[in-house]
Amino acid sequence: MILGIETSCDETAVAVVRGREKVADILSSQIDLHKPYGGIVPELACRRHIEAIGPLLTELLYRANCSLTQLDAIAVTVGPGLVGALLVGVAFAKSLAYALHIPLLAIHHLEGHISAVFLEHNDIPFPAVALVVSGGHTNLYKMPKYSEYHLLGKTLDDAAGEALDKGARLMGYEYPGGPVIDRLAKQGNAEKYPFTMPNREGLNFSFSGVKTALRQIIQREDKIKDDLSFHSDIAASYQKVIIESLVVKSIRALKQENAKSMIVVGGVAANSLLRQRMQEEGERLGFAVYIPSTHYCTDNAAMIAMAGIAHLERGNFAPIDISPNPSLALV
Ligand code: KG4
Ligand code: ZN
Repeated sequence: MILGIETSCDETAVAVVRGREKVADILSSQIDLHKPYGGIVPELACRRHIEAIGPLLTELLYRANCSLTQLDAIAVTVGPGLVGALLVGVAFAKSLAYALHIPLLAIHHLEGHISAVFLEHNDIPFPAVALVVSGGHTNLYKMPKYSEYHLLGKTLDDAAGEALDKGARLMGYEYPGGPVIDRLAKQGNAEKYPFTMPNREGLNFSFSGVKTALRQIIQREDKIKDDLSFHSDIAASYQKVIIESLVVKSIRALKQENAKSMIVVGGVAANSLLRQRMQEEGERLGFAVYIPSTHYCTDNAAMIAMAGIAHLERGNFAPIDISPNPSLALV
């Protein structure tokens, strides 16, 4: 049984996984805490993690019908993320691992996101291409096999989730804006405001140009405040260009690497258009598409515990004096 702990950003999450299956999984979201500030306030995030983590663990063990002494290892996110937030999870995990005399497993947050897909699928054909698309990252990896990653491309400026969040904020919506845009876009006309596809060549992404274009449209139209159909059309058009850029580059990577399957993970993988477009392209071009259930796309601890299994199997244990690394690279 592996305990997973995730505190890299604005969710305090703990989970128990046994043999690649989730036993129990709970999460305390800080969204309401940060809403009035329009984004995450690191100091507040850190304090809330401290308050939440102990009671969450007690509740988790109750739900998992498991005692501390039944745990075989503790997997914790060590980076990247907010340093103060990471510190809470890492200090908590270190103390528990030391007291229980069990291995500590240091997990990269993005390896956690990728591992989410293996909670629900154990038959993914390799090589695979993994698109990791969240509020902080937009990366493409080649995975020749399970647990091996080679970076193929990344964003040169904003992450896709960040571009969606900032776009929603320009329209007057609160953080996180990604789900708001997803919802609004369902009633909107995506052809109404044609955005130019950014950075067409290669496998890197860029979203700052479309964000600037959005700001200009909003300033020009001057009816942003109360016109719901305007909001819906602009959300649909803006979402379309961001999602199409993700789809086009991912397929390019898949063809270039002769990959058999596409893995799509991270908070933005919860987006309904991205899920639909990837499935359509998979059917059209004949590759398998694997996307976690939406609750495993956003931050959670089951994915961290799942990533821990590979570390435990390899004997890849972290020293008890490990520190979090806010800018940790996966490869
Ligand atoms: O993976 P995650 O929970 O945290 C990070 O590691 O960043 O991702 C959060 C991001 C936010 O930018 C949020 O707006 C976005 O995922 N997101 C979505 C949707 N749900 C969450 N973006 C688009 N459509 C959604 N349905
Ligand atoms: Zn994340």
